[in-house]
Amino acid sequence: MFSIVILISGSGSNMQAIVQAAQARQWQARYGAKITAVISNKANAKGLIWAHEQGIPTEVVDHTAYASRALFDAALQAAMDAYKPQLVVLAGFMRILGADFVQHYAGRMLNIHPSLLPAFTGLHTHQRALDAGCRFAGATVHRVTPLLDAGEILAQAVVPVLNNDNESTLAARVLTQEHIIYPAAIEKILLCTHNNS
Ligand code: GRF
Repeated sequence: MFSIVILISGSGSNMQAIVQAAQARQWQARYGAKITAVISNKANAKGLIWAHEQGIPTEVVDHTAYASRALFDAALQAAMDAYKPQLVVLAGFMRILGADFVQHYAGRMLNIHPSLLPAFTGLHTHQRALDAGCRFAGATVHRVTPLLDAGEILAQAVVPVLNNDNESTLAARVLTQEHIIYPAAIEKILLCTHNNS
């Protein structure tokens, strides 16, 4: 079984899109792939309730309960590794992870970032795109490396910036595309892994 663990911090709409794609496109039957856990650093993350309702095991590793990032990373890693993940999917997971943690999951951890990388790494991507006068914005699925938002690009989606856009209208337009490209990028990995096994 190809175990996929998803990490979230908030609403988890990307996680929902991935779980729905897994169901609709029968990832378990086709690729032997299963979303084995959804883990959040925030106990009140809305996505946790939804995942639980889908019958997916959920866990909380609260970063405020740990004295250092290293201790949090170690606790998170232990919680994740109980599910033996072949793929770790960061879906709106709002913690920067330490180099040792990233190294542990090297080559098997993905993130989605709401900009057309390499432009606008870090936070407030939509406002920065508006401030810069960009006529296009978008999202990027990439592999996670110790350097923030800098790993290999696997997929991108482009949306127009409209004249009357504000941060939230642009974010909403980008998010609809995230829900398409993230499941598709994961399925491509599943397909390649399945064909090579
Ligand atoms: C998305 O815009 C994602 O690109 C960013 O955080 C947001 C998470 O949204 N990293 P959701 O929790 O998946 O709804």
